[in-house]
Amino acid sequence: MSTGTSWFIIIVTLLNIAGCVWLLVANGRAVDPAGTAKDTGHVWDGDLQELNNPLPRWWFWLFIISVIFSLAYLVLYPGLGSFRGVLGWSQSGQHAGEVARANAAQKERYARYASLSLPALAADPEAMGTARTLYANYCAACHGSDARGGAGFPNLTDASWLYGGDPDTVLASIANGRMGAMPGWEAALGGEAGVDEVTAYVLSLSGTAGDPGRIAAGEAKYATYCVACHGVDGSGNPALGAPNLKDDVWLYGGDAVTVRTSIAKGRQGQMPAHEALLGTDRVRLLAAYVLKLSSGDGST
Ligand code: HEC
Ligand code: HEC
Repeated sequence: MSTGTSWFIIIVTLLNIAGCVWLLVANGRAVDPAGTAKDTGHVWDGDLQELNNPLPRWWFWLFIISVIFSLAYLVLYPGLGSFRGVLGWSQSGQHAGEVARANAAQKERYARYASLSLPALAADPEAMGTARTLYANYCAACHGSDARGGAGFPNLTDASWLYGGDPDTVLASIANGRMGAMPGWEAALGGEAGVDEVTAYVLSLSGTAGDPGRIAAGEAKYATYCVACHGVDGSGNPALGAPNLKDDVWLYGGDAVTVRTSIAKGRQGQMPAHEALLGTDRVRLLAAYVLKLSSGDGST
């Protein structure tokens, strides 16, 4: 702000306040102290008269107090042109102070978290409070606000895992991300009929009855094309993220149409890596949070 502008603002501000005081004092006195001409002679709506009384005292003093307050304020805080006020307060200074305090508190908190194991973090209410907020911001969009997932997004509250539910594996899933790689099998299985057979077999693994001839044909194909990833008995392979096909817990859905689509077209679920985005401390908090959810402690 140039000195000219600054003085201009100062003069206009002070003149304004002085003007207010003058107006107040000038109107504070009755025009007619003797009280003989209180009626201005203006009448509305038949009987509504305009009188000429001075301002009530309390009201007058309320204005005087606000004038004193404003002058004191302008001495203490910035407001008069480029004058900074005798307290030296500034908006950016206050903001910087708050940020520094918050950062210091956060650093202290995360330093404590870094010294705790994941199970200990999961048992720490303050840590889990922070983790819940992180989860809502970074994970809920895909895994759901209750962490129960949806089609293509695993439920994080149950005991069924694609990649494994021990602390290190959960941490790795979040930090480095995961990429499910299930190719489409329609061509290899000889088209629709082959897909139908394998679908019947896969559904039979979790107890859905079907045509025995079809199931037997599907089992033979399964042994050729699927065992490498889903295992001889269909119990899956956590190293590849190949789901257990026997447990009736489904990533994409367990109805015949959805299972058929999974087999015919393949699936490529992607869990993004979060280490670079959130840093190790926050990823550890989130891993502990997921462990807590899946341990049957349903309180989110
Ligand atoms: C863009 C969507 C998306 C976001 C955001 C996301 N995830 Fe995932 N997550 C997935 C998908 C999809 C999978 C399954 C990957 C697969 O199919 O192989 C997954 C898998 C996982 C797994 C492995 C589950 C298992 O059964 O082994 C964990 C743990 C996990 N996510 C936790 C998180 C956490 C914690 C966050 C927040 C930091 C998060 N995810 C954010 C989509 C997402
Ligand atoms: C190369 C390893 C691999 C092979 C071989 C493979 N799968 Fe998969 N399959 C996967 C993976 C990994 C997933 C999970 C995909 C994801 O996370 O998005 C999967 C997912 C599935 C699903 C979806 C499960 C659910 O919970 O929704 C079905 C059904 C399935 N596979 C059946 C089969 C059948 C039948 C075959 C043989 C014709 C087969 N798979 C061969 C790796 C494989």
